[in-house]
Amino acid sequence: MMPLVQQAKACALCSLRRHASQVVVSNDVWDARIVIVGEAPGPVEDRRGEPFVGPSGQYLRQALQSHEIGPAHITNTCLCYPPGCRTPTRYEILCCKRWLHWQIDMIKPDVIVAVGGTALRGLCGKGGIVRLRGKILESEDVRGRAYRVFPILHPAAALRREEWKELFERDIARLGDL
Ligand code: URA
Repeated sequence: MMPLVQQAKACALCSLRRHASQVVVSNDVWDARIVIVGEAPGPVEDRRGEPFVGPSGQYLRQALQSHEIGPAHITNTCLCYPPGCRTPTRYEILCCKRWLHWQIDMIKPDVIVAVGGTALRGLCGKGGIVRLRGKILESEDVRGRAYRVFPILHPAAALRREEWKELFERDIARLGDL
């Protein structure tokens, strides 16, 4: 295991770690051109130790597969399950930023997909996911290197509302061209 994965797994910078079963770092795919960043593990991910393997994750993975997108490195803005699936706070996002940037630095992807509002905030420091989804934004890593961010709606939101489902699927289809 990479030393930094071990360090991330031992992280206790914020109080999220006290409630979570484990730190869920990534799907361990390091040879990828795309990085997919969600919000935080849910209860299924917390148990299984892999991001996006619960119901909304399966929907996201199926959508990616049906457009032959991948392999992708999949991770989250916060690596620990927030109790009751609440939205991570700005402080928790900040504490976890080092792990997100280290993964970006390892992979140097062509594009980073910000899945939902928390990932958009973590990667670009701004809100407005419904307005910004489907646009190509620019941000920079801790070394000041520019990278492209493609924000999309969260699959959990897409599963709740038909109109969001359409937008979600449209954006995933576009990812193949980026
Ligand atoms: N939602 C997320 O944002 N990430 C996961 O890993 C699971 C659900």
